[in-house]
Amino acid sequence: MLLLLRLGELMRKPIIAGNWKMFKTRDEALQFVYAVANKVPAIEKIDSVICAQFTVLRCLVKRQGPNLRVGAQNMHFADEGAFTGEVSASMLKSIDVSYVIIGHSERRAMFNETDEAINKKLHKAFENDLVPILCVGESLADREAGRTEEVIKRQLELDLAGLSAEDVKNLVIAYEPIWAIGTGRTATSEVANETCGFIRRYIAEAYGDDIADSIRIQYGGSVNVKNIGELMSMPHIDGALIGGASLKSEDFLQMINIALTTKNA
Ligand code: PGA
Repeated sequence: MLLLLRLGELMRKPIIAGNWKMFKTRDEALQFVYAVANKVPAIEKIDSVICAQFTVLRCLVKRQGPNLRVGAQNMHFADEGAFTGEVSASMLKSIDVSYVIIGHSERRAMFNETDEAINKKLHKAFENDLVPILCVGESLADREAGRTEEVIKRQLELDLAGLSAEDVKNLVIAYEPIWAIGTGRTATSEVANETCGFIRRYIAEAYGDDIADSIRIQYGGSVNVKNIGELMSMPHIDGALIGGASLKSEDFLQMINIALTTKNA
């Protein structure tokens, strides 16, 4: 069993994604990308992604180099239309964006994003060859009431409805307990691993063992240079979605390198 777990873990390429949220002007984004683009490790070994706000996506893509990739933080599910202020998947694709965060808890909470909308967004992202990073996670009240697995199962059922097994294989899931985001309160590596393991078991039951062995599951919530090593040493954690700590280029690079060495150890 342990050996199988380890084999599955070794098969999956780690993925570290920075989520800049609503930070960085164009000049700040440029400074960052010049500092990291040539220093991120080879893309064959680890996926390094910056998810930025719309205004700087193109400027990052142009300078991403061979090993860094750029993602958006949201998109609309329609192809086009009268949706003032929104951006479509094909628009992101047209400027060579590779990833898109879908269903971040801040969007669910502050912008009333429903699981139904998230499901439509996932379908549209795949149709346009974008790799979605789907965020799921429970609130503090849910965790304290022992409802973590129930809440996450429900999110997965609704969010993934109708997706093909092939799509699910290429999906990245970020487990982000809401109580750990931006609070400095990280889930312990055991708690994070346990819930990521629960997500993997759900995927195995719904889509089969091969898909569950291939899908990459990140942990997110107050990840930083100090705790990323321990989190990445866990068998079900394939990467991290990092907010605050991804804003500094040195820290971002350091976290990618720690993740890579930990997984190869
Ligand atoms: P944090 O954010 O690392 O600042 O907690 C994580 C996220 O919201 O994706």
